[in-house]
Amino acid sequence: MTTDLKRAPAIDHKTSHQLDRHTVYQQAVQSPEADAELVQYFYRLNRNKTAYHFREDFCGTAITLANWIQQGPEFSGEGFDIDSDTIKWGQRHNFDPLGENGKRGLLHRADARAPSTKSPDVRCAFNFSYWIFTQRKQMLEYFQSAYQDLAKDGVFVLDFHGGAESLAEEEAITDCGEFLSIWHQTGFSPVTHTADLALHFRFPDGSAMENAFRYHWRIWSIPEITDLLSEAGFASTNTYWYDGEGEYELTRVGQNDPTWIACLAALK
Ligand SMILES: C[S@@+](CC[C@H](N)C(=O)[O-])C[C@H]1O[C@@H](n2cnc3c(N)ncnc32)[C@H](O)[C@@H]1O
Repeated sequence: MTTDLKRAPAIDHKTSHQLDRHTVYQQAVQSPEADAELVQYFYRLNRNKTAYHFREDFCGTAITLANWIQQGPEFSGEGFDIDSDTIKWGQRHNFDPLGENGKRGLLHRADARAPSTKSPDVRCAFNFSYWIFTQRKQMLEYFQSAYQDLAKDGVFVLDFHGGAESLAEEEAITDCGEFLSIWHQTGFSPVTHTADLALHFRFPDGSAMENAFRYHWRIWSIPEITDLLSEAGFASTNTYWYDGEGEYELTRVGQNDPTWIACLAALK
C-alpha cells in the first residue's frame, strides 16, 4: 500500500535502535508462510503431486525455507546466499529455535549457481533477486545450473514485476504498521536496463535506517527470461498473473498495467 510519510501510524514505540535490519526486512518485504505455500501450489498445479525438497536461492535469512520445513517431518530444503552475516543471522533466528526440526533446513554460504546437496523438487528465486545477474551470459549460466540441479519433474519458480512505472525514478512508500518502508529506485539506464535500488525504513519517532539494503539490478522482461529458460533446457514456462488479491492466474497475454506482479513456473 502506498501511503504518505506524514500518515505514519502511532505504534508501540519501537525505534530503529531497538530493531535490526533483518527483522525489519522480513516484516516489510517478505510473506514467508504465503511464499512457501505459493511454491508448493505451483508445483502441485503443474505436477499433480507434492514437492518435498525445496531450494531457496538468494535466500537471505531463509525464512521461506524455515516455513517450508515446518510443513512436516518429510519436508526439507536448502538455502543459498553469498552473504555470510545474513546466513548466520538466519540460522540463529529462523532455524536454531526450531531445534531438531530446524536441521532439515541446510544453509549454504555459496553462489546461487552452486549445486545442491540433494536435487530439489522445487526451487525459487523471490523478490526479483535473480535480477542481480545483469548480463545475459550470467543469467543463462544460472538457469543452466538450476536445470541440471533440479530433480526429475522439478519446477523452478521465479517472481517478476514490471509495467511502465517499474522504470521510473521513484520512492514507493509502504505502511508496514510499525514503520514505513521506502523502495527508492534511481539511475535507470535505458541502454543497460539497470537501476540502483535502496531500501529505507523510517520510524514514527523520527529515527530511520537509511540504505538498509542496496541492490543494483537489471530490469528484465518476461520474454527475455522465458527465452533464456528455454535455452537452458526447460521444457516450458507458464506465466501466472497476480490479481492483487492473493490469486495467480495462468496467462499468455498479461495486462498492460502501470505496475504488475507475475510468477513464472519453469518445468524441467
Ligand atoms: C533481495 S535479497 C533477497 C532476500 C530474500 N530471498 C527475499 O526474498 O526477500 C538478495 C540476496 O541475494 C544475495 N545474493 C547476491 N548475489 C548472490 C549470488 N550470486 N548468489 C547467492 N546469493 C546472492 C544477497 O546476499 C541477498 O541476501
